[in-house]
Amino acid sequence: MRKIFAISGSTKSISTNGLYIAAISQFLDKDFEVTLFPSIANIPHFNPDLDLEDPPKAVHDLRLNIQQADGIIISTPEYAMGLPGSLKNLLDWTVSSASFSGKPILALVASTQGEKANQSMIDILTVLEAKISAQLIPFAKAKINKEAEITDLETLTKLKSTVNAFVATVENG
Ligand SMILES: Cc1cc2nc3c(=O)[nH]c(=O)nc-3n(C[C@H](O)[C@H](O)[C@H](O)COP(=O)(O)O)c2cc1C
Repeated sequence: MRKIFAISGSTKSISTNGLYIAAISQFLDKDFEVTLFPSIANIPHFNPDLDLEDPPKAVHDLRLNIQQADGIIISTPEYAMGLPGSLKNLLDWTVSSASFSGKPILALVASTQGEKANQSMIDILTVLEAKISAQLIPFAKAKINKEAEITDLETLTKLKSTVNAFVATVENG
């Protein structure tokens, strides 16, 4: 069984990025188990004074989930021309622990436009030494329905190809 840990950059209960994570989960073979991180909103504000061996519990649990995963999915909207603060905050907590170093990551930006968030995500994950398969999905809400079916053929084809690249990295390193 391959463990995939999924993080949505959206704190909304019903979210376009949540639907894309659900769609990707359906693309994956049965030996891939996707666990969605439930609590991005519960991660405390990053503070170097607390970034110690024994960090806040929510951060400890986050790092453990990442460490135990064979691959990570991050799917996020763009807010105000960048990554949502909640996601940037989460990523800041993974710098000193090097949690993403060498990890296969499927990095999606599903947003209205999203170019800046997409570039920012690639820059950050590169610094964190992740193995990145990235895709930007502009006008993302209009391309997926409430059943998590991607209705835009071009997006569907491209996303399957990005997911295949991610799967190959998980399986082969
Ligand atoms: C505060 C705020 C700022 C936003 N800024 C941007 C932006 O700069 N660029 C963009 O493409 N979309 C922007 N959006 C739109 C969201 O990214 C878009 O609605 C996205 O699909 C929401 O995803 P979600 O349903 O997963 O939360 C913004 C939305 C909000 C609430």
